[in-house]
Order: sequence, then structure tokens, then C-alpha cells
Amino acid sequence: MSDTNNTTYRFPTRFRWGTATSAHQVEGHQTNNDWWAAEVEGGYVYENQRAGVACDWWYSAEEDFDRMAETGQNAHRLSVEWSRIQPHPDTWDEAALMRYREMVEGLRARGIEPMLTLHHFTIPLWMAEQGGWENEQSPAWFEAYVDKVVAALGDLVDLWCTINEPMVLIGQGYLLGTWPPGKHNLGDAIQVGLNLARAHAAAYHAIHAAQPGAQVGLAKHMVVWRPHRFWLPTDQLVNRLVNRLSNHVILGAVTKGVVRILGKKYRIGGAARTLDWLGVNYYQRFRVGIKLWDALRNFIPGVSTDILHLGTKPGQQKGPGAWGEIHPRGLFESLRSVRRYGVPLYVTENGIPDEHDEYRPHFILAHLHQLWEALQRGIPVRGYYHWSLVDNFEWSEGYDPRFRFGLFGVDFKTQERIPRTSGRLYAEICKQRGISHDLVARYVPEAIPLLFPNHNEKR
Ligand code: FCB
Repeated sequence: MSDTNNTTYRFPTRFRWGTATSAHQVEGHQTNNDWWAAEVEGGYVYENQRAGVACDWWYSAEEDFDRMAETGQNAHRLSVEWSRIQPHPDTWDEAALMRYREMVEGLRARGIEPMLTLHHFTIPLWMAEQGGWENEQSPAWFEAYVDKVVAALGDLVDLWCTINEPMVLIGQGYLLGTWPPGKHNLGDAIQVGLNLARAHAAAYHAIHAAQPGAQVGLAKHMVVWRPHRFWLPTDQLVNRLVNRLSNHVILGAVTKGVVRILGKKYRIGGAARTLDWLGVNYYQRFRVGIKLWDALRNFIPGVSTDILHLGTKPGQQKGPGAWGEIHPRGLFESLRSVRRYGVPLYVTENGIPDEHDEYRPHFILAHLHQLWEALQRGIPVRGYYHWSLVDNFEWSEGYDPRFRFGLFGVDFKTQERIPRTSGRLYAEICKQRGISHDLVARYVPEAIPLLFPNHNEKR
């Protein structure tokens, strides 16, 4: 609710305010997963960098947990690293599980509720060597690993996120080939998608068998798409197709147990109704269209993504490189578009690459404003996890200075944390559980017309 005098956007009392991280991006000292192998092989990461020590969470996460508590956060989304827990197909590392217990207890002790992601892009090397998610045994492997994690941590965690951004993994790893395993193959991409949906379903049932009250969901990357040329029917068509494939197909799989891809229907046993909640990771808007001439010359269905025009529109605020347009309204649009799945929602990631913190304060306000709008329309959003607490290893972008996402900066040579204005702003929002006129006036006065258009300054 907002105050009658329209000076504060209030959020529900039980709303979760937090940040999100993932194991490979913050823990450091990983030497047993597919990303580590890709970093060693070279060719996948900016300047062939390696994650290395990252933010050193494996040894000192607690120092950053203190920062979360000091900044008023009551929730954190983190992931556990499969290759640490199951370093070989027949070995479980109890010490690694104990370290994760210690971390999760550390969060709880600080009044921070953990949301635990079980798969955030990386797989153990032994699994990658057997074809990774292409292998038909992969859902069963995942299930065994999930059983182990739930047995070790289930008394401390209720909120489980099975898989992070399945479509991003498929797109980057199997269509664009920019992430390991570096493939460009539609058949493999479909196979991986089906196995990820099966793995999610297997994990859902395994978690519920061990912990009937658990809340199990997944984090879905939602992109806002627009036709490159609004007036061109082929661009409108491609826009609809890309929107359906990238945003909704996998959600159909885990709610209805059915997937339709390029006219073919696949049933996924046990996958219907396997979402207790849904996470929306929202970052950007893209324009999509078709390069007609290339498409005609090169009409082999799905094999080439070069026939697609993917870009931004002049005049829109953009992120670095191919990041796309920054479009706060898109958070509202994305939340509204997943309402149809009928489950509670979380914003499981939202953030901006912005080393100098020039745009982040405004970004946070503008996006939370849209989230608040969604709540006013009765869209059941239960929490917001900003990406991220600290700068970290950004996959293919590695430690490219243009891709820094932290509320705290990190000096990767010394591990020093550098507080940013956006971190202070977010702390005040978390503590107030809302956004007041005074807060906006102090941090981002230029956002007042956006948030408080009718407010009389002199009141
Ligand atoms: C998301 C990923 C996350 C991070 C952010 C910037 O797509 O889930 O790991 O890289 O982007």
C-alpha cells in the first residue's frame, strides 16, 4: 500500500528482501566442474580469465553474510556446487556438505532466510565427460545428488530452486556455443531441454518425499521481446515465436508435463504440477527480427541463428556489449506474463552491469516501483533478490570491468569490499520495507517525477 499522502511505497511485512549469488561465481577454488575445464581450455571467457579465487566464499562467505545482515536483508539466494558434493560418480564429500551446512546456519543465525539453488549452470567434470545433460541418465544423476543435499540440509532449508535459467544454459551452451560445451545443435538443445525438465521433476518429487512442507520451484530468465520492425509481419511472427520458446516452453513442461517444439509434442512423465513457486530473473528487453535475405538463402530450420537480428533500438538505455535495453516496465510485464502459472512468484534475480554505480540506484528504484505495481494488481510476488551482493565472476564476461553487478564492489587483488551508493540505498529500502519520498530525494532526486509525480514538495 502507499500512504494516503502518497509519500511511501510500502511492501508487505513478510516480503523477502535479499540478494542472489551462485557457487561458481563467488566461492572460488573450483577445479572439478565443466566451467573450470572451459576456463583452462580457453576461448570461452573474456581475456581467457579464470574464476580463480572469485569472492573467496568457500573460506570466508561469513564476512559477506555480515554485510547482508548489516544492510537489513532478510533473505539470500545461494547455490551449492554439485562437483564439490559429488566429486566422482561414486564419492560424496561429507566435508563439503558440512561446509554448506555451516554457511546456511550462518545465514539463519543472522536472520537471513536461505533459498538454495541446486544447479546454477555448472556440472561435475565426470558428468560433462559423459555428455552432461545430453545423457539420458542425467535426470537420475541429478536426483541422487538432490537426495543427498536434502538429507544434509533439509532441516535448514525450506525454499528450493532446482535449476537456474534452463533456457539460458540451452541457448548459450547448445545453440550459440558461447558456453561449455560449445555446441550449435538444435537436436542436442532439445534433448538437453527435455532432460532438464525431467531432472527438475525428479528433484521436485525427491525433495517433497523427504520434506513434505518444502517449497520447490525454479528460476526462469524472462526476456521482454519486441519486433525489430513493428510494421513487418515476419518480425512480429519471429517475435512471438522467440517469446514462446525462450519464455514459456519450459514452464509449460513443468506445469502441464507437455512440451511442443517446432510442431512436435513431447510428454514428460511426472513433470505436471511440479512448481510450488516460480522465480523470475529479469534483466533486459531485446528487439528481434529476421534477416529475410539470409533466411531465404539459408533455410535449414533452426540450424542457424545468424538469420535472426537481435538488438536494441537507438535512444533506449542500454547495457554494455550485447546486454540489451534496460527497461524497468519489463519487470511488471514479465511478472504479469507468468501469472497464468498460478503459483507464488519471486524475483530471483534483477540487476545491472554498472562498475561505477552510475545507473544502479535509479535502476533499483525503477524496478521496485514496477514490482510494487505488480503487487497492487494482485500479482503474488513474495520477495526480491537483487543480483548481486558483491561483484563476481560473470561467466563469459569473466572479470570484465564493464560487468560488475555488486551492491558492494570487490577489489579482486585484495578481496577488499567497496561499499557502493546503491548498496546503501538498498539497505534503507530493506530496513524501511518500502520506498519513501525522502529516500528518493536523498539518493536519486531525478527519480522523483517517476515515483511521485503528484507529490507537492512543500507539503
Ligand atoms: C543471470 C545468471 C547469473 C548472473 C546474471 C548477471 O543470467 O543467472 O548467474 O550471471 O545473469
